[in-house]
Amino acid sequence: MSTTIYYFSGTGNSLAVARELAECLQAEFISIVSVVSKDGIVTDSDQIGIVFPVYNHRIPFIVKRFAEKLREIGSKYVFAVCTYGDSPCISLEYLSGIIHKAGGNLAFGIGIKMPYNYILPSKGISGLFRPFVMKEISAQELDRLISGSREKLEMICAAVKSNRVGSVEVEHRGIEHAVDFLNLRETLQKSVWLKIGGFRGKTDLSYIECVQLMDHSFFSTDQCIRCGGCVRVCPTNNITMTDSGPRWNHRCEQCFACLQWCPKQAIQFGAGTDGGKRYHHPDVTLSDMFAQKNK
Ligand SMILES: Cc1cc2nc3c(=O)[nH]c(=O)nc-3n(C[C@H](O)[C@H](O)[C@H](O)COP(=O)(O)O)c2cc1C
Ligand code: SF4
Ligand code: SF4
Repeated sequence: MSTTIYYFSGTGNSLAVARELAECLQAEFISIVSVVSKDGIVTDSDQIGIVFPVYNHRIPFIVKRFAEKLREIGSKYVFAVCTYGDSPCISLEYLSGIIHKAGGNLAFGIGIKMPYNYILPSKGISGLFRPFVMKEISAQELDRLISGSREKLEMICAAVKSNRVGSVEVEHRGIEHAVDFLNLRETLQKSVWLKIGGFRGKTDLSYIECVQLMDHSFFSTDQCIRCGGCVRVCPTNNITMTDSGPRWNHRCEQCFACLQWCPKQAIQFGAGTDGGKRYHHPDVTLSDMFAQKNK
């Protein structure tokens, strides 16, 4: 039995999960970034695993593009693992729909709770000045989440080794489907998030696609030492270096890798990240992240 694990990651949670799974299953380990621009994605492996972070209750735009390009998966055992900070929500069900359209079936989909790496609405009166802030995590909570993830990974590995078929984990399905029914994602949520992302114009891009434009809120401070790390880590080559520092070119995935990995904490997103503690998975290095672009 041969297996390929495909992954996408911004701060290493999904990379660490995918890497451990690949080791346990002796699988080929391939980044979604390295294959997503192909016309069609085909593998000789009998089993395909897809590991990704939950974005906005669903899947990253790049993972959607990747899954839509999968070919010849009808006879394969396909499974998915999402990492999330709060809830897997309908991400796995959403991916399952794409796999189905591509001619395959998801054998199971499971979520692993990990540290949350994005901005959250702030609580209390401070929210009037800084409506979104970064979530900080204590060392104990980090340890608890990482050891919890290892236990779950052992269970997933055993399930894949025995070709087990199970369910696709979903939370808040009712409310999410109501939001879709009322088209609130494309109307209300899209305009709110574009505003948070600093985009003030009009766009025909759908909710999931419009993350590309949400990089208008990024800027660098005079702490920047022009090391080029943000340029190298960006999975979509969205950052170019100019005389005045990094420039974002509106092909963003909102993975937050540039902000979270900057060695000088020189990258900010609007008013909500200044002074916020940066996060990346403790077992993942910047070189691991750079490698995401190669294979
Ligand atoms: C743009 C964005 C949106 C996110 N949306 C959600 C969400 O809707 N629900 C959730 O539980 N976590 C959400 N998260 C948190 C990530 O899913 C979580 O921290 C994940 O483990 C990060 O994986 P990574 O380190 O591989 O990038 C979001 C993160 C980002 C960057
Ligand atoms: S990673 Fe940080 S310090 Fe390095 S060039 Fe980018 S903004 Fe500047
Ligand atoms: S610009 Fe930053 S947030 Fe956007 S895709 Fe690149 S690394 Fe990720």
